[in-house]
Amino acid sequence: MTSRPAVLDLIEADCDASVGRAFVAVAAEYFEQTRSREGRVSTAHTPAGLAARFDEPLPRAGHSVESIIARLRSDVIPDCNRLFHPRYVGHQVSAPLPIAVWMESVTAALNQSVAVFEMSPVGTVLEHRVINWMCALAGYPSDAGGTMTTGGTEATFTALLAARNAVLPDAWTNGVGTDPPVLLCGEHAHYAVTRAAGELGIGMRNAIAIRSRDHKMDPDALRLALDALGREGRRVLAVVATAGSTATGSFDDLETIGALCDEHGVWLHVDGAHGASALLSRTHRRYVRGIERARSIAWDPHKMMLLPLQAGMVLVRNERDLDTAFSQRAPYLFQSGDAAERVWDQGTRSFLCSHRADVFKLWVALQRYGADALGELYDHMCANARLFWEEIQERPDFEAMHEPESNILCFRYLGPGARDHPERSDDINRELRERYNLSGEGWITATNLDGRRVLRVTMMNPRTTAADIRDVLDGLAAVGKTL
Ligand SMILES: Cc1ncc(COP(=O)(O)O)c(C=O)c1O
Repeated sequence: MTSRPAVLDLIEADCDASVGRAFVAVAAEYFEQTRSREGRVSTAHTPAGLAARFDEPLPRAGHSVESIIARLRSDVIPDCNRLFHPRYVGHQVSAPLPIAVWMESVTAALNQSVAVFEMSPVGTVLEHRVINWMCALAGYPSDAGGTMTTGGTEATFTALLAARNAVLPDAWTNGVGTDPPVLLCGEHAHYAVTRAAGELGIGMRNAIAIRSRDHKMDPDALRLALDALGREGRRVLAVVATAGSTATGSFDDLETIGALCDEHGVWLHVDGAHGASALLSRTHRRYVRGIERARSIAWDPHKMMLLPLQAGMVLVRNERDLDTAFSQRAPYLFQSGDAAERVWDQGTRSFLCSHRADVFKLWVALQRYGADALGELYDHMCANARLFWEEIQERPDFEAMHEPESNILCFRYLGPGARDHPERSDDINRELRERYNLSGEGWITATNLDGRRVLRVTMMNPRTTAADIRDVLDGLAAVGKTL
């Protein structure tokens, strides 16, 4: 006879809505403070400084809810990056939609795994429903399909596994052999693409970068590469085009690249992790014209659809491509059933076994705001990048590196120090970003572009206003003068 653990009383007490409300109140307070631009945008502490704060022994006994809430307020929230602050214009991680944030606790409470229908009857069906909506938006036919992923990296990896299976159907069992196919991608492709080449066993040296023109894959260079590979008798695993590149938010010409892939009988994968959400927009949809030519698409609702992490998706024009990509059997989980019957289990189409029902928050966000409003938000964040660009045109101490096609902009500081010492410009821009971010007034990011160190902003918070944009540039200029 085992004795009843005393902690069960605490666990039962924690089921009460008052405890949930205490946590929700912390999140609502954070929303309120950041929305009203109270406090710093990010921490000034070093990693060692923050680590010292939490340098304590493993709690052997529990603490009261009140003391934990107090610690969240004092030790956690203030030094997190505050993405909800309108002057956070850093990485491509969203200021999340509140409705989706609140839904997270319901998702966690239900704790469904959509890998198998029997573990998540509604979640599995809803994932199919939402994936079908997204496929329709992409212009895919009714036998299209897909699965939700942890993000764009997993989505692209999954898609390229399916492409590998199409080119080398026995690779799952026998490996890729000594003459693996090559993978072609733009020189500005996200590292997830070349990483997949390593992971899939074809080797990074078989990932060929196609040069860019205006930060987009040059279709003429792609044609030359495909023709040359054809003459050499080399097989091509896939061409990966980018819709919304990480560095500049630029869109490859999907119509032309798609036609080239059709002509050469090659699998086209579109990495639309960032920019596929343009499919929701009336005005920006033109940037993804031709996306339906792709055999697979990566699309991250946790980027421009402003969902909290994590919510990614891979879509395939023909669901069978995913079904055959993973040739594994697991009789204890997957039901083989009648061959004519549709397989609802998503585990057969995904890397994941435990598969969180992230679809719930996506479905709730669509129910609450509707797809058209999310498209308007997409336009609004792109318009903010445009405003940033226009503001830079008025300021001689800055230079834009490109015109924005979405919500991302790269630029450089050219103020007195940088102008008088062009050879030091990279260092000045590097230091400028570090010092500005430490000021707590705003937060921007940086990258290397065209051989230069440049500053970079991504507009992932629809609350950012023209005044915030001017404040960020004023703040950068003020720091720049001190360098
Ligand atoms: C174009 C592109 N592809 C893929 C990724 C990776 O997506 P995730 O971080 O969701 O894995 C990113 C992330 O920034 C991206 O910009």
